[in-house]
Amino acid sequence: MPLVPTTDILAARRGCGALNAIGAEHVTAIIEGAEAADSPVILQLSQNAVRYHGALAPIGSAALAAARAAKVDVAVHLDHAESPELVREAVALGFSSVMFDASKLDYAENVAATREIAELCQVNGVWVEAELGEVGGKDGVHAPGARTDPGEAVEFVAATGVDALAVAVGTSHAMLTRDAALDFELIAALHAVVPVPLVLHGSSGVADGDLVEAVRAGMAKINIATQLNKEFTAGVRAFLDENPAAVDPRKYLGAGRDRLRAEVTRLLGLF
Ligand code: G3H
Ligand code: ZN
Repeated sequence: MPLVPTTDILAARRGCGALNAIGAEHVTAIIEGAEAADSPVILQLSQNAVRYHGALAPIGSAALAAARAAKVDVAVHLDHAESPELVREAVALGFSSVMFDASKLDYAENVAATREIAELCQVNGVWVEAELGEVGGKDGVHAPGARTDPGEAVEFVAATGVDALAVAVGTSHAMLTRDAALDFELIAALHAVVPVPLVLHGSSGVADGDLVEAVRAGMAKINIATQLNKEFTAGVRAFLDENPAAVDPRKYLGAGRDRLRAEVTRLLGLF
């Protein structure tokens, strides 16, 4: 029952965790962790995660089936898609929403590519997020100084018709320490003029208190991946350290899943 449109989750609350799954253990941990927090959740699969699996359908169908069986509202979102073909597949599979990431392109090319995808998605009732002002770090090159200009953001949303906008406000992807310095003034300035929900990428680098403050200042969708993977891996590592002779993946992956589930409940509790 509770596979819901992403827009329903964001309309009903100020901030929501958008948590990235890598595989089936992550999917289970994210949904069970959200149930324990009694919180809705946006479950995301990135283009990179899809590439790891070789195709969207197997892991995407598993995520959709788990969402339909959940006891809380779950939206299933395609994250950081650069391939229009992958967006089409996600729409056909029944995803709640997609992020089309053309942020590496210059402004005019980003507008043109994003508008085309937004039209395709909206005809099919699928919510679309785009990015303006590249949040770096995905390729290991951190650029926390990147900033989205509020005037350009307003123009971009009007020109593309997107439903949500990822903005650069001081974060960078894949940070292993949680000490990013968020530009709260810019978040408030963007929130005041941009007519669609704002998305914070690279949220693993942000301390708990600053995540709460970011939601207060106007960020609506809080994307978290690396922090989840740190916890999952810590669970696996601890199990294997204690049980070096273990060979059944269910034992050590299960330990990772248990630890991830607890972190999901904790993070969703913040919002
Ligand atoms: O799109 C996903 C995120 O922006 C996650 O970034 O791995 O730094 O938490 P993160
Ligand atoms: Zn991201």
